[in-house]
Amino acid sequence: MGGDEIQNDPPIPLTLRQVALRISETLEGHSISDSTLEAEVLLRHILRYDRARFYACLGETVSAQNIECALSLAERRISHEPLAYITGQREFYGLDFCVTPAVLIPRQETELLVDEALRFAVEDSEANISVADIGTGSGAIAVSVAVNLPSAQVYATDCSTEALEIANLNRCKHGVADRITLLKGDLLAPLSLPVDLIVSNPPYISSDLLPQLAPEVRSEPPLALDGGNEGLEVINRLLEQAPAKLNAGGSILIEISPEQTAATTEMARAQFPNADIAYSADLLGLPRCVIVSTK
Ligand SMILES: C[S@@+](CC[C@H](N)C(=O)[O-])C[C@H]1O[C@@H](n2cnc3c(N)ncnc32)[C@H](O)[C@@H]1O
Repeated sequence: MGGDEIQNDPPIPLTLRQVALRISETLEGHSISDSTLEAEVLLRHILRYDRARFYACLGETVSAQNIECALSLAERRISHEPLAYITGQREFYGLDFCVTPAVLIPRQETELLVDEALRFAVEDSEANISVADIGTGSGAIAVSVAVNLPSAQVYATDCSTEALEIANLNRCKHGVADRITLLKGDLLAPLSLPVDLIVSNPPYISSDLLPQLAPEVRSEPPLALDGGNEGLEVINRLLEQAPAKLNAGGSILIEISPEQTAATTEMARAQFPNADIAYSADLLGLPRCVIVSTK
C-alpha cells in the first residue's frame, strides 16, 4: 500500500473522530469492508476504550504516539492480516476469546453448534452431561458450552499443541478450567471413555479450494481449514471413530458446508444405521450443522 495515504504529516492535533475517519477511509480505499467498524475496533484496542467511551470521546485529541500506533495497525490490516489477530481477541457466544495465528478465528455461524448443544442438554434433562469438542482450536465451543452448562463435564481435543495452549488460556479466562479437560491427539482418539455429546467444527474446506480463499482466511492455520478431498475426509474419520466414543442415546453435532449435506448423511448413516439424521440451518437458512441422534 502507499504508506503516504495515512500519514499524519505535518503532525497536527487530531481528534478521535478525525483519526477514525482517516483510518476508515484508508481501509475502505483498500477494499476492506466494514471499514468504519474496523477503524473503531483498532482505535478502541489501542486506547482500551469500550464502545460507550469511544463514542463519548470522539472530540478528544489523540496523542501522536497513539496515532502512530493506529497507523501501523492499519498498515497490518491493509496487508490482509485479520482484525482478530491484530487485536488478539474475538467475541463468540457473548464471550471474549484470546486468538492468535495458531487458531482459527471463531466464526459466528459456529454459534449454531453451541445452540444445538444446549438444546440437547435441555431436551435430555441432562445438565450434567459429558461433552467432547473435537478440534477445539481456541476452545470457543468447549468454553461456551461449559459456561452455559455449569454441571457439564467437557473434553476438548486438538492435534495442535499451540492451539491447546490458547484453549487453555481461554478456559482459565472464563473460569471453567476445572470442567474442561484438554487432550492432545487425533480427533476422538484421546477420549478414554464415551461421552453423551460430540460437537465438532472440523476442517471442512476442500484442499483444492484453499488457494482461492481470501488472503485473511489463508493466514489462518491450514490444519484448521483443510478437509482433504471435497472437504469430507476429517468429517468421515470423525464419524468412523464416533461409535466407540458415544454413549447410548447420545448425539453428534458437526458443522459442515451446505453442499456437503448429502455426503455427510451417507457417511453418518454408514456408522449409525438407526440414528435420526437432521440438519440445523444457519442465519441464511442453509444447512450448517448435522445432528446425528442415536436411540
Ligand atoms: C475449523 S477449526 C475449529 C476450531 C474451533 N473449534 C472453532 O470452531 O473455532 C478445526 C480445528 O481442528 C483441529 N484439527 C485438525 N485436524 C485434527 C485432527 N486430526 N485431530 C484433532 N484436531 C484436529 C485444528 O488444529 C483446528 O484447531
